[in-house]
Amino acid sequence: MKFAMGILMLSKALIETHLDLPYPYNIHLFDSLDSTQSYLKSLAPSNVIEICLSESQSEGRGRLGRVWESPHGKNIYCSFRLPFSLEKLQGLSLVLGLGLYKVLENYSDLSLKWPNDLYWQDKKLAGILVELLAGNIPLIGFGLNVNDSDQSLLEKGRISLALISGKEVERSALVASILNTMFSSLLCFKDEGFLPFHKAWTAVDYLYGKSYSVGKLSGKARGVDKEGYLLLEDEQFILHKCH
Ligand code: BTN
Repeated sequence: MKFAMGILMLSKALIETHLDLPYPYNIHLFDSLDSTQSYLKSLAPSNVIEICLSESQSEGRGRLGRVWESPHGKNIYCSFRLPFSLEKLQGLSLVLGLGLYKVLENYSDLSLKWPNDLYWQDKKLAGILVELLAGNIPLIGFGLNVNDSDQSLLEKGRISLALISGKEVERSALVASILNTMFSSLLCFKDEGFLPFHKAWTAVDYLYGKSYSVGKLSGKARGVDKEGYLLLEDEQFILHKCH
């Protein structure tokens, strides 16, 4: 599938037009960077939301030391650092995933794979990375495949919004909408934890009923509990809570 050469570059002004955040913020937008996550890790502490975006990353990082492929000008690579600490982190990545899901739910067949992947059918569309800085300050990064129409994505078990719908998407308004949604969820999570999100997350659980392993534990996925722990049922029908 090919697309017209009409992809707009990310625009700080356009992002700001659509952003509606509950705290002051700074946007750091780059054409290329090693990793938006690494950039914010080494940025001096501040009391505003620090948001970093780049058109490409040479050392994009995924969970568990994996590489996050970050070709230029097509997708969203975004990290943000919260201006507050969080006492409890259990369930945080699920809540953030739900934020991504809500913004994109008009695309059918989306689901969330514990702990923090957004799937379309059996293909990965987006991933979230949560790291903790000094003083329990969360540093959150997400990568969303948007206008990448490279068929080799499919062979790697991945997908993009453009491959799903056949249409290019304007990324600045989209990333603002994701940040708005994630922040309103984060404020609720800060006060009330995962419980208010449990029902919505359960309704879009990709793994439910599938065989899955976490470390040495294997079994059938049986959803998440009210704190966001994955429940795996072993052959004796005993439920195990996974971190
Ligand atoms: C995963 O699914 O393994 C998480 C992927 C997270 C990728 C994003 S892209 C923006 C930010 N910068 C990085 O280096 N990684 C995250």
